[in-house]
Amino acid sequence: MSLLAFTYQQFENWMVVWLPIIFMGLIAVVLILMLRFMPSFKMKPQEIKPSSSDSVGWSDVAGVEEAKDELREVVEFLRDPGRFKAIGARVPKGILLHGPPGTGKTLLAKAVAHESNARFYAQSASAFVEMFAGLGAARIRRLFKEARKSSPAIVFIDELDAVGSTRGNDVSGEKDQTLNQLLVELDGFGGRDGLVVIGASNLLDKLDPALLRPGRFDRQVFVTPPDLEGRKQVLAVHTRDKPLEPGIDIELVARQTSGLTGADLANICNEAAILAARDRRDKIATTDFQAALERVVAGMQSRRVITDHEKRVVAFHEAGHALCAELLPSTDKVHRVSIIPRGQALGYTLNLPEEDRYLKTRDELMDRLVVLLGGRTAEHLVFGQITTGASGDLRSVHDISRAMVTQYGMGTGLMSRELNAGDYSMSDATRRAIDDEQQFITDQAHRRALALITEHRELLDALAGELLEREALERDDIDRIVAGVEGDIATPERLAPRNGDRASALYAEPATPPPPLPPSE
Ligand SMILES: Nc1ncnc2c1ncn2[C@@H]1O[C@H](COP(=O)(O)OP(=O)(O)OP(=O)(O)O)[C@@H](O)[C@H]1O
Ligand SMILES: [Mg+2]
Repeated sequence: MSLLAFTYQQFENWMVVWLPIIFMGLIAVVLILMLRFMPSFKMKPQEIKPSSSDSVGWSDVAGVEEAKDELREVVEFLRDPGRFKAIGARVPKGILLHGPPGTGKTLLAKAVAHESNARFYAQSASAFVEMFAGLGAARIRRLFKEARKSSPAIVFIDELDAVGSTRGNDVSGEKDQTLNQLLVELDGFGGRDGLVVIGASNLLDKLDPALLRPGRFDRQVFVTPPDLEGRKQVLAVHTRDKPLEPGIDIELVARQTSGLTGADLANICNEAAILAARDRRDKIATTDFQAALERVVAGMQSRRVITDHEKRVVAFHEAGHALCAELLPSTDKVHRVSIIPRGQALGYTLNLPEEDRYLKTRDELMDRLVVLLGGRTAEHLVFGQITTGASGDLRSVHDISRAMVTQYGMGTGLMSRELNAGDYSMSDATRRAIDDEQQFITDQAHRRALALITEHRELLDALAGELLEREALERDDIDRIVAGVEGDIATPERLAPRNGDRASALYAEPATPPPPLPPSE
């Protein structure tokens, strides 16, 4: 008995001494194993061979000529450095491609990989973001070491904003350390070792200024959504291997897709092919492109069942948009109106610009507001009720009118400065003035919409009537209805010059009280 007690005592002593040590040892072993087997710890920078199967050539990237020219120069330099060096030219060290998502930045880099005969290393910046301090930096060192060993080489860092955002915002400090390492590596080589770094990012203004100074990413190429000619080329690239019906109007599709990016256009081409295949046709027709465009812009047709009354409300709502768009000279013409529910919307009016525009006047923005408010105003006028259906329109109205006052200096009293909402030094009085200006602008647009619709009530009824009957109206139908009701359309709005003093004529009128609304139906 005493023996047992003794051994138990001994055992307890032994445990008190050794148990913590065993535990610590176990934790150390687990940590070491984790580090060893963590895939990212051993990750090597990925090298892309020009002959890899999904290789992309210059001809596959369309509509971004400036970016292509810039990159072609680099490729040429790497092919024949002697020619440039002979006249003392130095290759740019870093090129930063930036622009909205889907404009082809990654695609451009792939084309460079394929076209230059230099070694090409690609890594996404998110691979440098690590839980352990110092790992990301180590990986950057490794990437550049590897690339420098096999120079001439190109290093491509995609989605640079993952590590490139301004320093000092990261609590752990790991990202800052990673970025510092990147800055050092970008500095660390001279022009002679033939290393070119290409970065891609969506957010230029979020990047640390040190990254953008000359000597690092000293060339910045803005990759924009393509213009009309560019869109035609992108569509041509993506329909190259698809059977098209003879006489198909690709130019029409290009004209209707102003503002869409290369990725959107690729998507439209694919959707068109899917639609044709679904109907078991072996060629893609213009109608497939139209349907695909509609699907990409407005969403899938939904199977929601709506009541007759709702349908009437939607018809008048869309007719209100269409009427305002038709009668105001500066708005994009209505391409199609439909009250077939699609995506989130119960109906929609598709306005498509006829040409690419880069500047908008105040009048044009006002007209846009009138069109946006036209839907809800028509509803209110006809049914004496307002519904929840206009929330999307109202959001756009808010965004546009706010931007008019705060960004574009289009308010009456606050014309000469930008008024940033995040500016904490702004006084309460100024904030109130902004609200007042915005209210003034939207009120004006609302009055204008109300006046237009009351004045042309017959046209509204005709449009809504035909919409209810046929559920969708095309450009030709709209032209026919407008001509039928308005005669040869000589409304002052339609005849007004685009750039004349219409502001004074249409929008600067004194506040007239809107006509009284009819009682509820
Ligand atoms: N200029 C273009 N010419 C041809 N196809 C394009 C073009 N731009 C985009 N595409 C198509 O869109 C797809 C996506 O493009 P990409 O991945 O290059 O976009 P990105 O600019 O890198 O976008 P993100 O900023 O989101 O990374 C491409 O695979 C290609 O099919
Ligand atoms: Mg990309």
